[in-house]
Amino acid sequence: MSIMAKQNFRGAYHISPQVNWMNDPNGMVYYEGEYHLFYQHYPYGDTHGPMYWGHVVSKDLVTWEELDIALAPDEHGMIFSGSAVVDWNNTSGLFPDGPGLVAIFTHHLEVQGSHPIQRQSLAYSTDKGRTWVKYAGNPVLAHETFVDFRDPKVFWHEETNRWVMIIACGQTVCLYHSPNLINWTLGSEFGDGIGSHDGVWECPDLFPLAIDGNAANSKWVMIVSIGADPAFAEGSRTQYFTGDFDGITFTPDAASSEVRWVDHGRDNYAGVTWSDIPESDGRRLMIGWMSNWQYANQTPTEGFRGAMTVVREMSLETREGVVTLVQKPAAELESIRKPVLALQGATAAEAEQMLQKLQLVSYELHAELSTDHSSGFRIRTGAANGTVVGFDAATDCVYVDRTNSGEHSFHPLFRSIQAAKIVSAGDSIDLRIFVDAASVEVFANNGQAVITDLIYPDADATGISFFSEQANVVLSSLSIYELIPHTAG
Ligand code: FRU
Repeated sequence: MSIMAKQNFRGAYHISPQVNWMNDPNGMVYYEGEYHLFYQHYPYGDTHGPMYWGHVVSKDLVTWEELDIALAPDEHGMIFSGSAVVDWNNTSGLFPDGPGLVAIFTHHLEVQGSHPIQRQSLAYSTDKGRTWVKYAGNPVLAHETFVDFRDPKVFWHEETNRWVMIIACGQTVCLYHSPNLINWTLGSEFGDGIGSHDGVWECPDLFPLAIDGNAANSKWVMIVSIGADPAFAEGSRTQYFTGDFDGITFTPDAASSEVRWVDHGRDNYAGVTWSDIPESDGRRLMIGWMSNWQYANQTPTEGFRGAMTVVREMSLETREGVVTLVQKPAAELESIRKPVLALQGATAAEAEQMLQKLQLVSYELHAELSTDHSSGFRIRTGAANGTVVGFDAATDCVYVDRTNSGEHSFHPLFRSIQAAKIVSAGDSIDLRIFVDAASVEVFANNGQAVITDLIYPDADATGISFFSEQANVVLSSLSIYELIPHTAG
């Protein structure tokens, strides 16, 4: 697939469409050895338009192949965001000959002189997602009052032996249940008076996770993205709640009375998780759209627009007594590492000398930084100063400063600094920084503080440097790996 092409601003190891527009990840499901990822796609232009579902597939989460478009608009409207599941036991009656895939998505119908109508529909596939048939009885779920009624995420709820759908309804989410994916009953609504309401609620998800790796002790995590409102410079963001879920009602923990963000950067939106990951694997894998509705239609790529974050493994860890969502890059990314530099116990001057020799675009930088004082890295330096990824000892924050990262004229809000508080670190924190043609993703303090940001440096801005407020500082470890997907195109 052409994500390998050395096209300007096309990441080497991030999913992007060969041509034209991409937004939300949709319908992620694992089936018969393949990870499927569908996405909001406009095949006839590089801005948001009448939506289709594009389709990529992977056996290893790092090499992706782009397949034919899966779903196209029809008489019920455009194909907005949604999910996919394996109907293992033919609950839908659509699979007399063995299991198959069902996509549950929003049909968005534009109506002249009135607001659009959003209803939920099904499509199914009996050939491992290669071709799809729309269900004859579409749409299967409508709502009389909500204008914004979209982005259904469906999962099998073991305890009640039926399907559950979480769906965005304006400024709340609704929880429906169904025996067969076709007939849906409203169970409850959540969101009034809790969480951030700085924009319309979109793309929810709900899933259980073990706390601190102890399967006997788990919590439910609810993910809710909030749309960009011009009143808030941050634009599109994704929040999460922890709590309990009985198949009908989600009851939030006390900790959820505060707004909590999945990512502290500007460019990780509409993320949801994979369905049907085998129990033997047991991971909860998530991916987000790496952009922001503030400027998504104006970013300076050519021929295509939009990319996904790297795949992340989500977990719950207790940090300072609070059950907290943490995320780590999927381990598969380590399989495409090509070691470039490994230093231990180097002084700042020694590290700087080694870094000066490097010229890299697509790589992972892994470092241990002291929390006693401020220090950090400048990446993708060239004519511009580059993007700063650092730790600020005065505020205990990791930050990304993209004010001098390269091209920014396409939107006044792009030049910005994002920070994330480090919680309960010791004398040092680990930083894993994923750099690519047009992005930086920072996982700090073992995934507790995450910042995902787009950047648009010149293609020849390939330098890296280290800075510290203490001249005689010693870097306990610093490794750099070029990231090269297995099959170069
Ligand atoms: C989120 C979103 C969804 C919608 C889709 C349309 O980015 O606005 O709510 O289904 O994008 O492309």
